[in-house]
Amino acid sequence: MAKCIQFSRIGGSEVLELVDVTPADPGPGEVRVKNQAVGLNFIDIYFRTGLYPAPSLPSGLGTEGAGLVDAVGAGVSHLKPGDRVAYAQGPLGAYAQYHVLPADKAVVLPDTVDVETAAACMLKGLTVQYLLRQTFPLKGGETILFHAAAGGVGSIACQWARALGVKLIGTVSSPEKAALAERNGAWATIDYTRENLVDRVRELTQGEMCDVVYDSVGKDTWELSLDCLKPRALMVSFGNASGPVDGVNIGILNKKGSLFATRPSLNGYADTRERLEMMARDLFAVLESGEVKIDIAQRYPLEEVGKAQDALQGRRTTGSTILIP
Ligand SMILES: NC(=O)c1ccc[n+]([C@@H]2O[C@H](COP(=O)([O-])OP(=O)(O)OC[C@H]3O[C@@H](n4cnc5c(N)ncnc54)[C@H](OP(=O)(O)O)[C@@H]3O)[C@@H](O)[C@H]2O)c1
Repeated sequence: MAKCIQFSRIGGSEVLELVDVTPADPGPGEVRVKNQAVGLNFIDIYFRTGLYPAPSLPSGLGTEGAGLVDAVGAGVSHLKPGDRVAYAQGPLGAYAQYHVLPADKAVVLPDTVDVETAAACMLKGLTVQYLLRQTFPLKGGETILFHAAAGGVGSIACQWARALGVKLIGTVSSPEKAALAERNGAWATIDYTRENLVDRVRELTQGEMCDVVYDSVGKDTWELSLDCLKPRALMVSFGNASGPVDGVNIGILNKKGSLFATRPSLNGYADTRERLEMMARDLFAVLESGEVKIDIAQRYPLEEVGKAQDALQGRRTTGSTILIP
């Protein structure tokens, strides 16, 4: 038997239950991973609260983890038992000691990346890879606004932007988070609980405003974010921490300066094994060069996942959080 977290109804963290299950065998094209560390992400909260519907209930939860390949299904040739791997996509159920997923979603780890680091950055780091390198291929010299700059995705984005020579203005909700984002390479920070976001961006950019805004806060910041852009610049809305952006009249993009807008996801970018491996190589390269360091600021035993999710949702975390199964 093995431990895993399940939920049978949507709701608060109290719906998360620790259960004993017999680990499933991998089917054709699948692999079973013995998780050594599991990543905690905001998307897990969207599934628990029903913003994103789970395919069925009861359901497992979590999509990110790292550990050892334990068994492979028929037709899998690029992985074998004992391989150290990490994954960030695939069926819900990574909050577990064993997880079965499509083999194409698992990437072999280089010796230089330990499993805890991998679990802490596979989803968040691959997200930053596509945001900064693909959605808008930053060349250096641009000014960007990145919300939640002290969080899991934000901490990686600050460091990667610095490595690319990009001026990242990060938003945060406290002086401690501002200091952390600046240590990670943010060119400037704005504490939007005390400062006017748009005025501060205007001041910092001497009226020029930003080339790109990366907004994962969603509902609360959508319009403010548009006001931080240069004419014809790009709005990247990639999350819903404060609720989803809906009911948008596309005419607002004209009104705010002939803007572009996109709503991307990791699954939309890492949609083939080749693309996933290309993105993972890019992520591992910045880890190996030391340009990006992963800050595992919170660790919880698997059974304390409810506490971990409450801290993430309550804005009490910084950097990455992992669960130890
Ligand atoms: N589209 C994609 O492919 C993709 C992939 C990964 C993550 N994401 C998104 O990126 C965001 C960051 O994910 P993460 O796991 O790294 O989380 P995180 O940034 O560590 O935590 C979320 C942060 O958002 C800020 N926030 C602002 N308003 C909030 C609210 N009403 N409730 C809670 N937090 C709020 C808080 O920072 P302050 O206290 O500093 O405001 C909080 O710490 C999430 O929105 C997630 O959905 C999207």
